Amino acid sequence: MPHPMDGLPKQVTVYEVGPRDGLQNEAAVVPVEVKAEFIDRLADAGHRVIEATSFVHPKWVPQLADADELLARLHRRPGVRYPVLVPNERGLDRALDRGVDEIAVFASATETFAAKNLNRSLESQFEMFEPVVARALDNGMRVRAYVSMCFGDPWEGPTPIAQVVRVGERLLGLGCYELSLGDTTGVGTPGHVTALIKAFRSPERLAVHFHDTYGQALGNTLAALRAGVTTVDASTGGIGGCPYAESATGNLATEDLVWMLRGLGIDTGLDLGKLVATSTWLAGLLGRPSPSRVVQALAKG
Ligand code: HMG
Ligand code: MG
Repeated sequence: MPHPMDGLPKQVTVYEVGPRDGLQNEAAVVPVEVKAEFIDRLADAGHRVIEATSFVHPKWVPQLADADELLARLHRRPGVRYPVLVPNERGLDRALDRGVDEIAVFASATETFAAKNLNRSLESQFEMFEPVVARALDNGMRVRAYVSMCFGDPWEGPTPIAQVVRVGERLLGLGCYELSLGDTTGVGTPGHVTALIKAFRSPERLAVHFHDTYGQALGNTLAALRAGVTTVDASTGGIGGCPYAESATGNLATEDLVWMLRGLGIDTGLDLGKLVATSTWLAGLLGRPSPSRVVQALAKG
């Protein structure tokens, strides 16, 4: 029996990042056929948007070096979107060759992470993204943008809100349909989330992307929903992290999110039982239990 709360949306879109954010951070490279099955199972559980992989430099993220092959093997289902990460024009060429129709560019809010993750400065990352977004839009693609290290950065400390807004508004100004606010190392807290969202001109164009390093992801999500956000990134089983930010652990688990939203009477269209079964299957293949509390509780019962 749901117990709704005032000031929350009726529906939430869960933007699933497990196959990309989750698998990019695994020590072992997962075989391409397992990745394809993972994505298929996610669609079967009701996901309508599944970030499938990244067209980044294969040496930078060897775990996703099979992006071209994965796209060829994908069983695309009608009504399901399969965006991919693209940092530069070389990545865009590869994505276009594979018939991709939706991409995400990923910027940094801080100088140090721009250098570590993209080999660029805060300013020169835009020289990389501008032609990518322009060409992608010309080709009829949908383009999402991320901004990472929105709350703090392990090298620079807390990130000033004005700095995040400057980077984020510039990305939206390029024509990206949505901006996902990344708490890459999971240091944000709910009041900070509210303040950051309110500092943007259009909260309805924002999504949130919380890593759960300090156990704040669900509380932060509730704050974001109250501030007008209706798209939440999550990874089935709570896997994830960023190889260029060591302190980044798993994303908010999709199951933990669905449990909370179901309790609040908010529709996601997702089948919790199928998600838990998928995470349990994947955990067996990865050789370690899912970090999701909901998966642990339901898999036992
Ligand atoms: P670079 O070394 O500066 O690249 O890396 P470059 O432009 O100088 O090119 C060097 C060579 O790489 C060239 O080859 C290019 O063709 C090749 P050469 O001419 O020397 O033979 N190259 C490529 N090959 C294949 N695919 C490509 C590609 N690009 C160049 N796309 C680069 C710059 C951006 C490529 C590199 O830094 C990179 O790949 N970074 C990606 C890092 C990454 O994927 N991190 C994880 C994702 S971000 C994240 O997890 C955060 C997020 O979840 C949100 C959050 O949590 O906050 C999104
Ligand atoms: Mg992430």
